[in-house]
Amino acid sequence: MPLAVRLDHGDSRSLQFQLFDQIRSMILRGLLRSGESLPPSRVLSEQIGVSRNTVVLAYERLLLEGYIESRPSVGTFVSGALPETAIFTGTDGCRAPVLPAGDNENDEDFAVRVPRAQAVVNPRAGLTYDFWVGRPAADSFPIKEWRRIIDSKLRYAGARMTEYQDPQGLLSLRRAIAEHVGPARGITVSPDEVVIVGGSQDGLNLAASVLARHVGAFIHEDPCYQGAFYLFESCDLPSSPVPVDEHGLDVACLPEVNRALAYVTPSHQYPLGVTLSLERRIALLQWARRTGSFIIEDDYDSDFRYEGAPLTALRGLDDHGRVFYLGTFSKCLGAGLRLGYLIVPPAFVAAARSWKTLMSNGEPWLEQAAMAEFMEQGAFNRHLRRIRQTYRMRRDCLLHHLRRHFGDVDILGTNGGMHIAWRLPPGFPSAIEIERRAGRAGVGLYGLTTGGACTQTDHPRVADTLIFGFAALSEERIAAAIAILARVLNETQPTAEAREVVS
Ligand SMILES: Cc1ncc(COP(=O)(O)O)c(C=O)c1O
Repeated sequence: MPLAVRLDHGDSRSLQFQLFDQIRSMILRGLLRSGESLPPSRVLSEQIGVSRNTVVLAYERLLLEGYIESRPSVGTFVSGALPETAIFTGTDGCRAPVLPAGDNENDEDFAVRVPRAQAVVNPRAGLTYDFWVGRPAADSFPIKEWRRIIDSKLRYAGARMTEYQDPQGLLSLRRAIAEHVGPARGITVSPDEVVIVGGSQDGLNLAASVLARHVGAFIHEDPCYQGAFYLFESCDLPSSPVPVDEHGLDVACLPEVNRALAYVTPSHQYPLGVTLSLERRIALLQWARRTGSFIIEDDYDSDFRYEGAPLTALRGLDDHGRVFYLGTFSKCLGAGLRLGYLIVPPAFVAAARSWKTLMSNGEPWLEQAAMAEFMEQGAFNRHLRRIRQTYRMRRDCLLHHLRRHFGDVDILGTNGGMHIAWRLPPGFPSAIEIERRAGRAGVGLYGLTTGGACTQTDHPRVADTLIFGFAALSEERIAAAIAILARVLNETQPTAEAREVVS
């Protein structure tokens, strides 16, 4: 049977390549089937009007890449077993091969599904003062120490920059993290249970990969951190919101499910800033055990505690392998590092390691090695002590100026973290309205849903709560921003009741 190839002498690609490409495409599309014979090179060359050598060279390449096989004295045939790698051999600038078409009948209905994702970069530009949540101060990054460590790591890197490393993460960093979370979070863990990830979001993905096949539902705080909610939404897990009050997740509302995954931020709830009480922590762990469920504990800003001792992490209270603990260096050092860790229950270590390999083959060696040294030398703890002090002063300053201008303000989340939530008094314009007006005056303020959270219910806090990320603003700037806010609110003519509290 003659082959339906058409070569173009005007094409910049060689005739031999065009021939190879078209035969390969016919094989991949199933137009030439396994075992089918190809015309002898002499016959094909006459048929398509090219030199025999052109056909021989094209056949040789098809042979080399495993698309065809030659049986001496019998002929040339389409290969019986196409190697996987042959399908994607796009070299010489060749066009991607046309893969077998599926059922095209529904093509018109086909639409690329774009999952929702949180805005990690503030979409609002041109603000003079910005309370965008979760940003450490730019000048807090320990540049000098980091540069020195990076330099010395590079000098002695040897083959570590060229070789793959353990996908679970550098042992020295996993060891340093295991030693850190003991005293800091009450978690006793072996470095074997630590997986280095590219920040919490990557850790959430890893936990989702490990757990999604074992659970039937996703349970989350309401309101909830968008990054977590959107991720589990994209896994198509049915979700169930559990309200948050001033003591954290309302455990009495946890559904009696069979094996679910619950995502929580117990240290400093995102976005309301409240801390989950010890009583509720214990009840949550009991629920997980009773229902065969697992918990992802996102401890994103627990390095900052200003009042009282921090409560032991859920993971530190868990004796039954129910808690995946997520830590990040995004808040205490910087989000640009993209470094964090997932502490997995012992039964999931092998799965997490395999998934991490499948997902990324591990995190960059240089940053891991630098972070390990930063922690081993004690520089990390020194850095934490320093910025904790700075952030505490900024928090105090923010509270002082809110009280000065607005009286007895109802604020949540003051005892730790990098943001607070202000529940507006009755009579004030809605959070969204204040956000809009403050924005026009150059002050970036955020409500719950514009500040990286979402709710699945008609949550009352959405209308009356503003969140302020204070860590990145100096005290002078905080004072100036709150003075502008007071002016803006005075101009908005709040009701008589509200006017009493606006100085
Ligand atoms: C609740 C919560 N978890 C985690 C993160 C940090 O994410 P990552 O470590 O991926 O930078 C954030 C950042 O804003 C957050 O608000």
